[in-house]
Amino acid sequence: MLIGARKGSPLILGVGDNEYILASDAAAIVEHTTRAVYLSDNEMVAVTPDGFHTKTLDNITVTKDLSQIEFSLEQIELDGFPHHMLKEIFEQPKALSTCMGGRIDKRNGKIVLGGIANHLREFTLARHLVLTACGTAFHASLVGEFLFERLARISTETEYASEFRYRNPIIEDGTVVIAVSQSGETADTLAAVEEAKERGATVLGIVNAVGSSIARATDAGVYLHVGPEVGVASTKAFTAQLAVLSMLAIEMGRRRLMSTAEAACYIDELSKIPDKISRILEQSDRIKEIAAANIDRNNWLFLGRGFNYPVALEGALKLKEISYIHAEGLPAAEMKHGPIALINDGMPAVFIATAGPQYDKIMGNIAEVRARGGKIIVVATEGDESIKQHADQFIAIPDAPEILQPMLTVVPLQLLAYHAAVLRGHDVDKPRNLAKSVTVE
Ligand code: M6R
Repeated sequence: MLIGARKGSPLILGVGDNEYILASDAAAIVEHTTRAVYLSDNEMVAVTPDGFHTKTLDNITVTKDLSQIEFSLEQIELDGFPHHMLKEIFEQPKALSTCMGGRIDKRNGKIVLGGIANHLREFTLARHLVLTACGTAFHASLVGEFLFERLARISTETEYASEFRYRNPIIEDGTVVIAVSQSGETADTLAAVEEAKERGATVLGIVNAVGSSIARATDAGVYLHVGPEVGVASTKAFTAQLAVLSMLAIEMGRRRLMSTAEAACYIDELSKIPDKISRILEQSDRIKEIAAANIDRNNWLFLGRGFNYPVALEGALKLKEISYIHAEGLPAAEMKHGPIALINDGMPAVFIATAGPQYDKIMGNIAEVRARGGKIIVVATEGDESIKQHADQFIAIPDAPEILQPMLTVVPLQLLAYHAAVLRGHDVDKPRNLAKSVTVE
């Protein structure tokens, strides 16, 4: 007899032919079977040659459904790429098409999100939104905050799940909490969901892993549907989280104040994002040269404004976690309140300076860093010839409405981090001290 018990971290029982497997993640068992039982917290399973029995830790029998693992072994193989992270960066056009396919109705200018259909009214009438997440999913949530405020004019705050769970949050009537998580197993995010539920909030999930703890704990939600993300550094999940948040914000905006024509315009632009990402990916070798030219630098800055400020945070996180290079991401104007003191000769400063209302402002920030000897790496809009004279290195991205740009501007930063890590000889898929899912506090 083999007994597995779940308390805190995830536990799955794989049910094969004449075999059972206990694991923490479906990816570990899909090679052997696609049938699984997802245990809930405080449940256990006893496996014997005759079968399995599920009970609570208090010894009360519970009946569990057999679930089908929805991804295949091929999806977690490298498919000719040297690393999962690079494979997942290059998968983004396809992943986003899958994520949005069937959900955007270009002809009628509509978004259809089946997973929240029964909660649309609460969502539309919500008076306040709280987005909660960790790490990369937190950065996506910050973009979400800007999207909901801009498109649906609803006050929104984004909070680290680890803070939310402990700070006695105010949940009033009409507060909707949205938890964002790739794995659906992050302990802090799961605890934030439980806290929000206990205080009476409607809680939605934006999750990738089907059947995961957060997906099951939330009232409703939208899956990313981008297949398993294996690389520890989150890439395709981030852009898909942005796609889902954009779809939600457009749909909510349309129900509250946005004209059908405006919604149709955004939906049309959303549908063009996968092709635009493909065009950015063609610059991978050029981005590798930029990484190589700066590979001996141990301190980097990432600066952006507006919708691209969370992308600056994400660019810095990507570089830190896989290349172990110290990097800071900042809203560009904050630089002069302290971090500008860090700038010395040749320090790489990556600016996201795409077309938009804050373009002139960020040009001012570029001049400030340049005057202090910083090396200027710019992510700018294709065709912006004038910015080249202010930049040491230049990466062009296709034009897109300001609110959708993060799905594009983050891609060169993912590639920059990837190439820097490989050039420094690190194992990109297994960075030191990190786990794919942080299932402990
Ligand atoms: O699975 P989750 O999206 O909840 O994970 C949250 C973070 O642990 C995760 O995004 C982490 O920051 C990644 N390593 C970033 O690449």
